[in-house]
Amino acid sequence: MNHRYSLYKDRNVSDEFIKLKHRGKIYTPDYLVEIILDRAGYTGAGILKKHVMENSCGDGQFVIHIVDRYCKEYLRQSDDKDGLRADLEHYIHAIDIDEDELATCLMRCNIVVAAYGIDGVKWDFVHGNTVEISEFDGKMDYVVGNPPYVRIHNLDEKTFATKEHLFCRTGMTDSYILFYEIGIKMLNRAGTLAYITPSSFYTSLAGSEMRKFLTENNLLVSVCDLKHFQAFKSTTYTTIVCLKKGNNRKSIEYAEFDARTLSPVEISSLNTKDYVVDGKFYFADKDSLASLRAVIECDAKHDFAVKNGYATLADDVFVHDFGFDSKYIIPAVKASCARWTKILYPYNQQGELYSEKELFGDSNVRQYLLSQKERLLRRDGEKGNERWYAFGRSQAIKDTYRDKLAINALIRTVKDVKIVEAGRGTGVYSGLYIVSDTIPMSTFKRILASEDFCKYVALLGKYKSGGYYAYSSKDVAKFINYKLLEKEA
Ligand SMILES: C[S@@+](CC[C@H](N)C(=O)[O-])C[C@H]1O[C@@H](n2cnc3c(N)ncnc32)[C@H](O)[C@@H]1O
Repeated sequence: MNHRYSLYKDRNVSDEFIKLKHRGKIYTPDYLVEIILDRAGYTGAGILKKHVMENSCGDGQFVIHIVDRYCKEYLRQSDDKDGLRADLEHYIHAIDIDEDELATCLMRCNIVVAAYGIDGVKWDFVHGNTVEISEFDGKMDYVVGNPPYVRIHNLDEKTFATKEHLFCRTGMTDSYILFYEIGIKMLNRAGTLAYITPSSFYTSLAGSEMRKFLTENNLLVSVCDLKHFQAFKSTTYTTIVCLKKGNNRKSIEYAEFDARTLSPVEISSLNTKDYVVDGKFYFADKDSLASLRAVIECDAKHDFAVKNGYATLADDVFVHDFGFDSKYIIPAVKASCARWTKILYPYNQQGELYSEKELFGDSNVRQYLLSQKERLLRRDGEKGNERWYAFGRSQAIKDTYRDKLAINALIRTVKDVKIVEAGRGTGVYSGLYIVSDTIPMSTFKRILASEDFCKYVALLGKYKSGGYYAYSSKDVAKFINYKLLEKEA
């Protein structure tokens, strides 16, 4: 049941108490709140008599800034404090499911208004589950915030009844995507929403319904991507998104966050034909997006394959300094760092698993594997590959006796691209490899050890910590196919 707060009795809250409440909580830093409110247009005299909602307000990081802005603007126009109190009660709304957080929010708001000589505000702060609250639908001029990020399959159904929600039809989703849907529903016909959330919805399957909805309804107004910048303690790659109902502009403003000045830098005005590629969102300057589109939309297929290396699901067992030689031990390259090592490889040249009897003919191998049997049995291998000494997955096994080019799957700059030739009878793990019967390996090396490849990978936007970008075997294949076609043309 939702509980509405009335005036908090004890307004004499100590700073110590407020600090204590902050500990261990993810809240939005002040500079980001200010930027988000500015990007939402929650500024100047236009905010007066406008309804604003923070629907997962936590301890009130947004709400205190909203209240402060409202008081300043109001008092610029009038010194009627009773009128201001009535406005604060009528136009500023907040919800949180956590009663303690909401109580802190309320105390902090009381402290803010006290500085303007106001007390006794009966705040419209609701203790409840935003997902179940519909009384604000269609009424808000502004919805702002930093909604919760929780994978929805981790949450109980009662808190997040997702099935009826349009944005969550793909099944597994993230609570922030649901909060976009709820926030949009709360807007009136000209309302504006501004959130900071993970940027994963740009390209994820979970974000597909939302992307479609935003594009079809022309809701997107601006994006400020924080890229690798970590505003919160957790490793989450975030973006500030601004949506508007009744938006009639054809283009959106794309900005990137400057980590030195802690402020957005405008990059480009973009149309959907710039930033929507294959139903996904990518943001950069127009020229970069055009080159990314050319690669993604290229459907050329040349005679090569990019694949994932071995997945033993127990590298600590299979990759080892064994201290003995055996026909079952072969050289292998760790693609992530281009380092050669040895791997216990219990397969024949056709990629078939040796029987226990054959393998155990080598007494060193027998002794070693039996000493690791318990550990190997704990793996969760793929179906049909259940022999305890097999690799966890069968991928890459068929290519051991082919010439390969190993490549890492995580880079920052061209200096980080690691390419190693791995000949017949050697393996690749912890990364990708390329095989081809007709194209020389030197061609792949030239294509991948290039600034163009690094730029492409950065545009895909799969951020990893330390300023790195990840890419998949499919991403690499797309790029090579495009470059081979370009060469043919
Ligand atoms: C990431 S915190 C952000 C807090 C605040 N918006 C800020 O930026 O500082 C998310 C907040 O969502 C609240 N929350 C989570 N699930 C909720 C739900 N179903 N309804 C309302 N609030 C919820 C949590 O209690 C938490 O305070």
